Amino acid sequence: MNLGYKGGRREQMEKEIIRIGLAGFGTVGTGLARIILENQDWIKRRVGKKLLISRVLVRDLNKVRTFIPGPEARFTDNPDDLLSDPDIDIIVELIGGIEVPYTIITKALKQGKSVVTANKALLALKGNELFELAAQNKAGLYYEASVAGGVPIVQTLKESLAGNKIKSITGILNGTANFILSEMTLKGLDFEDALARAQEKGYAEADPTLDIEGLDAAHKLTILIRLAHGQDYPFDSLPIEGISKVQAIDISLAGEFGYTLKLIARVKEKSGYLQAGVFPVLLPEDHILAKVDGPFNSILLYGNAVGPIMLYGQGAGELPTGSAVLADIMALARDNSEPNNTGFLEPCLPRARILDPELTVYEHYFRFTVLDRPGVLSALSGVMGEYNISIAQAVQKTNPAGGSVPVVFLTHKAQLKDVYAALKEINSFSFVTAPTVHYRILT
Ligand SMILES: NC(=O)c1ccc[n+]([C@@H]2O[C@H](COP(=O)([O-])OP(=O)(O)OC[C@H]3O[C@@H](n4cnc5c(N)ncnc54)[C@H](OP(=O)(O)O)[C@@H]3O)[C@@H](O)[C@H]2O)c1
Repeated sequence: MNLGYKGGRREQMEKEIIRIGLAGFGTVGTGLARIILENQDWIKRRVGKKLLISRVLVRDLNKVRTFIPGPEARFTDNPDDLLSDPDIDIIVELIGGIEVPYTIITKALKQGKSVVTANKALLALKGNELFELAAQNKAGLYYEASVAGGVPIVQTLKESLAGNKIKSITGILNGTANFILSEMTLKGLDFEDALARAQEKGYAEADPTLDIEGLDAAHKLTILIRLAHGQDYPFDSLPIEGISKVQAIDISLAGEFGYTLKLIARVKEKSGYLQAGVFPVLLPEDHILAKVDGPFNSILLYGNAVGPIMLYGQGAGELPTGSAVLADIMALARDNSEPNNTGFLEPCLPRARILDPELTVYEHYFRFTVLDRPGVLSALSGVMGEYNISIAQAVQKTNPAGGSVPVVFLTHKAQLKDVYAALKEINSFSFVTAPTVHYRILT
């Protein structure tokens, strides 16, 4: 008996209890268990069945647990206890990492057992292979919690906006990075202090690399691209820049021009090609995403029929993420049709048609650090002109102590290829005393 649709579907749908094998009982696993216990009657009203966590896989059986998911739940540290239990209908993977979840999920799918996961890293790196395996075995592989935690973007793209061609998605997908940038903007902190605040508040892990280097947002973007465009964008091809080099001075100078710095994940469709990436950008202060502060996530997308849609909410945390996992379990428990994993019928999605990132066009912010002497401004603007970059605003700050001064240029639209070429030339001038800082501006 499983929800793998290999046979006996009618019998499955007639079951009164759906048994869950829960792999991982940390932040999200605990949150899921709490909501199931709290909302059991409500869930039954909606899906006609009781959800029961019957087995729980953890790493350390000796760890003290202040909460357990009901008297029936049996704990184990052996994944095979979940996978070989014929009574388990759905495997829920909430361990994190790659290897152990990959083994558990592939074994479950091969048995035709449906899987729910929040594991964005695994889906970004091995999603196409796993979705193909799920399709071969007619099993569900659902993952609402993998992007933006409690914000229901997966179901929105898969079902609610299925009839739209998605023209662009711009998301604040990492709450830790957004919290750090908000602290820098609102309190004038430098990066290290803002990161320390995020760690104190439990938003950032001891090793924050995935969050601050843009990798976590990029994992989520890979999943969104699949859902929105039905194409597999290889994670290794995605341009990714994080926020670890962001300096307080640029947040402050950008503010003087009316811009806010945010880490965004973005994909845009242009003539059948995709432009995508994760990078810090300047947003006009009245941009709807500029107002998303703290650990929150938000996604702004444009459909060719619906126009703009924006979602906003908690991208992490025990209950918000548990809520998204529960929605997937309920969808599998309720639905006796073929599972809808990617939103497309192809068992294996085609490779994305990718536009060379250097051909993308934005407005730009530059901060040069230069010696305060005659001819510097005209040399800088001369190089800009050479590469067809037209300057919209320029400001030179004074430095009463002498030495280097910051010069800021905001430009009209220019190709990244030209920007990189101009920067290379400018950084080689003897009057440039520190590498130039550059950000794209999104209007
Ligand atoms: N935390 C969030 O807000 C959030 C938001 C969105 C998505 N996610 C995703 O959800 C997943 C789970 O995250 P989490 O924050 O809940 O993780 P977590 O708090 O670190 O919990 C991980 C759980 O997995 C168990 N585990 C770890 N390695 C194991 C192994 N080798 N074998 C068996 N069990 C093992 C741990 O066992 P012990 O209890 O014995 O240590 C623990 O119960 C991740 O993929 C994460 O990216 C998390």
